[in-house]
Amino acid sequence: MGFALATAAKEAGWSVDLVAGPVSLPEPAGVMVYPVVTAAEMQRQSDALFGPCDVLIMTAAVSDWRPKVTEPQKLKKDGQGLTVELEPVPDIVSSLAEERRTDQFLVGFAAETENVEVNALDKLERKGLDLIAANSVAGSEGAFGSDHNKLVVLGRNGFREVLGPASKAVVARQLIDVIARLVAARAS
Ligand code: C5P
Repeated sequence: MGFALATAAKEAGWSVDLVAGPVSLPEPAGVMVYPVVTAAEMQRQSDALFGPCDVLIMTAAVSDWRPKVTEPQKLKKDGQGLTVELEPVPDIVSSLAEERRTDQFLVGFAAETENVEVNALDKLERKGLDLIAANSVAGSEGAFGSDHNKLVVLGRNGFREVLGPASKAVVARQLIDVIARLVAARAS
């Protein structure tokens, strides 16, 4: 979905920086791609790019936990079980929201398995976003690894719009359109 949005934003005339984890998708034409592997790298790169940016769209399904210790060598098995201690991964979009300017527009994604809109609105508030695109990942509707998607886009002051179901390319163009409208309305 991130790649589809980068393509749609570029087609709409935006200047686009794409911070992307490892995926097997062709790079969108005319977009600056910043490859990252870990959440910490994604945070550092996003921090570095955030200052001059007008719109931040965070589609990344960042892991909630990471191992506390990284072993330099392969662990030998010894016939015993293994307990791995995990620590929480810092929330990238929330930390950017804390340092945002009021003219910057922040969009998050929420993949939910139940109470999609209630949970997404809670996330919108908690993370300090302007807009959240929620999709259900329950059952066969799942967006992960699929070419299709359906989003419920929720904003402040009761804003609600349903995009799709359609291909991710079409949904992405619609979402870029919604963002452009809301940004223009806020500026006027
Ligand atoms: O809390 P949850 O992962 O459901 O929130 C989803 C939103 O928060 C997405 O926009 C995702 O990119 C962002 N996120 C983040 N940093 C994290 C986890 C999620 O920016 N560590």
